[in-house]
Amino acid sequence: MNKPEHHLFICGSARANGELKGTCCNKNSIDLLSYAQGEIQDRMLDTVEVAMTGCLNICARGPVVIDYPSGRFYEKADEELIDELLDAIEEGEVLERNLIES
Ligand code: FES
Repeated sequence: MNKPEHHLFICGSARANGELKGTCCNKNSIDLLSYAQGEIQDRMLDTVEVAMTGCLNICARGPVVIDYPSGRFYEKADEELIDELLDAIEEGEVLERNLIES
């Protein structure tokens, strides 16, 4: 297995019991996960992986996406933001839109 250069974690609002319940899930983050998986496949980005996380405790800013290993958090993610984030990754740039400053 090759270690991915980017791992995108999309909040799925999962609770400790596995129940998908919360802000990001209610804002279609699960569909966003599927969309990101499809885009990564279509673009043949074999250095990018995507996975779902549990609640990140910044629910009001959801859906939230984290780009690792940079650790950049993005708020209010939608399909357009995923496209822009993947564009930036392909171009070796940093997406500034919706970036949550620490
Ligand atoms: S439900 Fe996504 S940050 Fe809490």
